[in-house]
Amino acid sequence: MFQKKKEHTVSEWTNDPPKELVPGCLDIWRIHIPSIPVGEIEFLLSAQEKSRTEKYKFDNDRSSYAVSRSALRLILGKYLKENPQKLNFSYNSYGKPALDSLLKRKSHFNVSHSGEFALIAIGPDAEMGIDIELMRELDYLGLAEHFFSFREQTEIKRLGSEFLKKGFYTVWTRKEAFIKAIGMGLSFPLKEFDVSINLREIPQIRIHKSQSVFDTGWEIHDIVTENQYCASLVIPDNKFTKIRAFNFNLKQFEYIKAI
Ligand code: COA
Ligand code: MG
Repeated sequence: MFQKKKEHTVSEWTNDPPKELVPGCLDIWRIHIPSIPVGEIEFLLSAQEKSRTEKYKFDNDRSSYAVSRSALRLILGKYLKENPQKLNFSYNSYGKPALDSLLKRKSHFNVSHSGEFALIAIGPDAEMGIDIELMRELDYLGLAEHFFSFREQTEIKRLGSEFLKKGFYTVWTRKEAFIKAIGMGLSFPLKEFDVSINLREIPQIRIHKSQSVFDTGWEIHDIVTENQYCASLVIPDNKFTKIRAFNFNLKQFEYIKAI
């Protein structure tokens, strides 16, 4: 018997931007990168961010970074009533960015970008990890052998070929959202935890004994966005009672209008 799945799926996106963060509520912002003119937004970046922007070889990667980081500044600035250009970020030893100083306590966030989209998760009080991937044609079983746990490999091999792509990306984004939630990225051993693969059941995560210190209780939520994309969110158990999802629209930001 399947458990109800609905509460662990985010699929309704609104165009009404929120005014503030709400206790117990996590917000996800969806940004369509090609719709945002980079030239109108990249002035928000710090000197360090601008120099990183210049290092990208491909225009798409450059816009993806510049737009998502500038949008992050605008969104955080709006929630925290701070000048978006003056926000400072610090990085943990694995590269996870966070707000600096006192603001860190007010708001946590995580960003992911792939193809034409970026997702930003923001909420008070707890760390989170988000991942979006444009689903490409790949050697799914070969990659699974390399990156997935034994149990995940067994489950993915059971899938019919028509479900393989979605199954692979479901596991991939759920795993990546977890390693981003704990902030370790790929330094966390990917084979030492399992995520479930079945899209009809409430998603589960099982941390192996070797990593029991991280077994503090986690929830996975699937994020339904455009076809061809797969996305997941990982948050601590019972920290957020509500998840809201918004489309990012540059015109709705007062800071931009005032310039
Ligand atoms: N923990 C959490 N978030 C991190 C992070 C960390 N250690 N390091 C960086 N980030 C954030 C940053 O905001 C970054 O955005 P920015 O570059 O605009 O600042 C964002 O995560 C990048 O995430 P995403 O767009 O999903 O990139 P990615 O899929 O290429 O990589 C990591 C994300 C952090 C996991 C990276 O370590 C990596 O190289 N991944 C390769 C993909 C992979 O093998 N995944 C395994 C899945 S089974
Ligand atoms: Mg990713």
